[in-house]
Amino acid sequence: MSEQNAPARPARRRPAEETHEGPTRAHAYVCEAASCMSLQAHDITVKLGEAAAAAGQSDVIVKRVGCMGLCAAGPLVQIPETGEMFNAVSPDAVGPIVAALKKVKPGAEKLPHGPFFEHQVRVVTENFGELDPESLDDYLGRGGYEALQKVLSEMTSTEVREEITKSGLRGRGGAGYPTGLKWTTVAKAPGTQKYVICNADEGDPGAFMDRSVLESDPFRVLEGMAIAAFAVHATEGYIYCRAEYPLAVARLRSAIRQAQRAGFLGQGIADTSFTFDVQIRLGAGAFVCGEETALIASVEGKRGTPRPRPPYPAVEGLFGCPTLINNVESFANVPAILRKGSEWYSAMGVGKSKGTKVFALAGRIVNTGLVEVPMGMSLREIVYDIGGGIIDGRPFKAVQTGGPSGGCIPAQFLDMPMTYESLIEVGSFMGSGGLIVMDDTSCMVDVAKYFMDFCRDESCGKCVPCRVGTTQMWMLLDKITRGQADLIDLAQLERLAGVVQKMSLCGLGQGAPNPIFSTLRYFRDEYMAHIEERRCPAGVCEFDAVEVPA
Ligand SMILES: Cc1cc2nc3c(=O)[nH]c(=O)nc-3n(C[C@H](O)[C@H](O)[C@H](O)COP(=O)(O)O)c2cc1C
Ligand code: SF4
Repeated sequence: MSEQNAPARPARRRPAEETHEGPTRAHAYVCEAASCMSLQAHDITVKLGEAAAAAGQSDVIVKRVGCMGLCAAGPLVQIPETGEMFNAVSPDAVGPIVAALKKVKPGAEKLPHGPFFEHQVRVVTENFGELDPESLDDYLGRGGYEALQKVLSEMTSTEVREEITKSGLRGRGGAGYPTGLKWTTVAKAPGTQKYVICNADEGDPGAFMDRSVLESDPFRVLEGMAIAAFAVHATEGYIYCRAEYPLAVARLRSAIRQAQRAGFLGQGIADTSFTFDVQIRLGAGAFVCGEETALIASVEGKRGTPRPRPPYPAVEGLFGCPTLINNVESFANVPAILRKGSEWYSAMGVGKSKGTKVFALAGRIVNTGLVEVPMGMSLREIVYDIGGGIIDGRPFKAVQTGGPSGGCIPAQFLDMPMTYESLIEVGSFMGSGGLIVMDDTSCMVDVAKYFMDFCRDESCGKCVPCRVGTTQMWMLLDKITRGQADLIDLAQLERLAGVVQKMSLCGLGQGAPNPIFSTLRYFRDEYMAHIEERRCPAGVCEFDAVEVPA
């Protein structure tokens, strides 16, 4: 148990084991992930411990846990024995929680009530809101490292790869490449030195899934990486995480240290001959460094720019060696698959989209936060049943998925199942899981301009179509939003978008035109209103004054 889990004590002062006598009657879980931490969550942990102690409740444990998901309502405190959740808690007003704790009778943990929680299926996030992310003991107590021990004692590398292949797991970093196939390519690639890299660069606007996983359950990612290393015959691993995620990095560092001390990382893991260790590399926040070849260059200490593929990193990656790169969420699925079996995993989902997906709900939605749902759940269920609908009851207009390379899905597709294939069919893509919800106050030309501004800013400049094209497309969009464009500009925008898509070197440039294509496909009338009527239907764009000829 961590230092913070103190019975009715300010957490950091004395560990629970030292102070607590007799059985624990109740717990108070305090969300200490970044969103709640930014609203003094740690002070709540301390004050709640003090208040419970002052009320004579020495049989209560106040515990730091990871993200509870409902970020919009934070800071959050939960009493797991009753499922009761307290929203918008202030460190100076913990009295009602202490009063509620007083009435608790010991019992099994209950999930918090309400549609936000009840519609979710938690695999990657199964420990969220319950586990102390800085406690290896807590992780072990929840089945942590069972999968790695099973793999090392009962399975061959080939069997592990087959299990991942059968599960149907696909990469959660964006493209949805089959994970088992990638693992097999790395395992079979010639070379004695192989690497595993965890991509935690997460740069899409509105996305915070990977950050939440690292802040809430870092051991899980390390366990997934170790299993992958065993399966592909790698001995060294790197986690490439953006430096703007200080809490995630601190928790990862703590988890690596504890895992090394306990023999889950390093030489001779779990008393076998298997050796694997992990280092962290911090990214400086360039979006393009999430692209796998740019990421590898950055880890090697070079400027982070993409290179043409093939050769793919699976064959020729870090320092020229076969390298497995997977996303944080991809790795976080692995322990559960090995523990519960590929059949259990592949029973969730639809068609070729198996398992669950973690989404970050952002924008004009009531319950902004983090959710995990089975693949194939409809957008309507995610936005309305889990997300609580649109703020102020305004009409839903669109949801943007897939980050700057994605698209805007209009209301007519609200009942569409969210799968890799269906999203591509409607002109968007799954991406890493950011869902930005928009209502009638969003101008879709302005939205396309926002994403193009992001891309032109983040373009590494290595190839001309992207470097020049993203700026040119932004200038044309800007002209439209200022009421200065004509139909020739619109035609030029469409032509240019096609060229940039086809001619760019990496996914950043190839995907940059997608927000234009999708907004033109579903909201062309808004473009026309700007051009032909000098009118922004959403009332967002401010037009330049028309010059009246003398
Ligand atoms: C511009 C760009 C940015 C990317 N950023 C990320 C990222 O932040 N995280 C990530 O996992 N994958 C990112 N990717 C995808 C990676 O190149 C790679 O496909 C992925 O890490 C593979 O992991 P997966 O198979 O588990 O999805 C990005 C791709 C591009 C083109
Ligand atoms: S497409 Fe853009 S980000 Fe990618 S290599 Fe070319 S200039 Fe760089």
